[in-house]
Amino acid sequence: MTAGTLPALYGEDFAADPGRHYERLRRQGPLARVEIAPGADAVLVTDYQAALDVLRDTHTFSKDPRPWPDTIPEDSPVRSVLAYRPAVTFADGDTHSRHRKVIGDSLGLLGPHLLQTQVSDAAAQLIGRFAAAGSADLVADYARRLPLRVFNTWFGVPDAEGELLAGRLSSMFDSGADAQDASAELVKVIGGLVADRRARPQRDLTSYFIQHPVGLDDAEAIMQIAVTFSGGYEFTANLIANTLLHMLADPRYDGSVYAGAMTAHEAINEVLWRNPPQSTSSGYYVRYDTTFHGVGLRAGQLVLVSYAAANSQSAPGGETDAWGASESAHLAWSAGPHSCPARQPALLIAISAVEQLTSRLCDMRLTRPAADLRWRPGPFQRSLTALPVRFTPWAPKAPAPAEDEV
Ligand code: HEM
Repeated sequence: MTAGTLPALYGEDFAADPGRHYERLRRQGPLARVEIAPGADAVLVTDYQAALDVLRDTHTFSKDPRPWPDTIPEDSPVRSVLAYRPAVTFADGDTHSRHRKVIGDSLGLLGPHLLQTQVSDAAAQLIGRFAAAGSADLVADYARRLPLRVFNTWFGVPDAEGELLAGRLSSMFDSGADAQDASAELVKVIGGLVADRRARPQRDLTSYFIQHPVGLDDAEAIMQIAVTFSGGYEFTANLIANTLLHMLADPRYDGSVYAGAMTAHEAINEVLWRNPPQSTSSGYYVRYDTTFHGVGLRAGQLVLVSYAAANSQSAPGGETDAWGASESAHLAWSAGPHSCPARQPALLIAISAVEQLTSRLCDMRLTRPAADLRWRPGPFQRSLTALPVRFTPWAPKAPAPAEDEV
């Protein structure tokens, strides 16, 4: 097959029902060639065991694309995710450990109690804005706003600039025409922040990243912050929205979250299995010509792991059920050396965000059938465009603070 005739991992049809596409791809075997944007192709891993092998086998697979000819068209939107930068996602071995240590050590400074308070405060303020209206779009009004507040506070980003960043991040992950410009703008905003904190350090993650003893230079600091902010914010927002949808659409709730049949934690776990917020991995590159799970791969081949497809193969109650209902067997956090270093804070934010909302607006109902909801395009994410709900209007005791007070 040539590019253009390969199965597409982008566009409306794919976003509407990725499960159908994964099923069809899996019929080709554990790996299948796909198009991830016009003119850009990759090998997609849909089999659970093959996925684990790619993620863990650092002798066969590298994260660094630089030694190989670049096959992604110059103007392709997926460059915003796949083009090399001096960031943790594109590093192997010692360089990877060095970048990852800065991220892990800095995130480790965030105390869970303070984080819990930040999330509760942000949740109360956001809910206070729409509670009296009796309706809301839980994506725009809540799921995307709440983690943005948290990330702005963590990194010391002024709220107005945070809004700009959020818009740019959406464009990057939608893998549309403006994805590369968005990525460049993200780097510019974070560059300004890094320059400011070099001169005036504060008690925030930006300052911790640049003061870390491993000694990141400016380009490295900007890139570690960009990757941590962008992936962390986007996927936490998706996790909150996908979980709220799961609870609202699940028959156990009879269309509302009132019945209390499932805790936020259980709902999140099911979403991590069935609708992972990051559906496809970033790039892995084959180091030498090899045969992998019966498929010939050439040196430099771009390989992507479909976390969503691999999960659906082994999800509790799924085709094989081989890994049971264990919370850690799904690949929503990836696996191997590049797996998500922020599961605990991410889970804390998501659980708390969902609990705060469902405990206050417990008769929320979807205003349209779940099947009619639309999903954002792009191969890397599973992200709703909107989640409209209705509920009994509710007046919080204290008035919602004005925009500039929050
Ligand atoms: C507090 C929020 C979060 C932060 C700060 C964060 C940060 C990061 C960072 C820095 C990496 C790169 C690790 C490396 O390459 O060694 C990463 C990877 C990853 N994260 Fe997170 N993350 C967050 C939330 C999430 C959420 C909610 C999910 C989805 C459930 C998620 C899924 C992943 C996945 C799948 C990877 C592997 C990415 C790849 O394929 O290259 N993360 N995360």
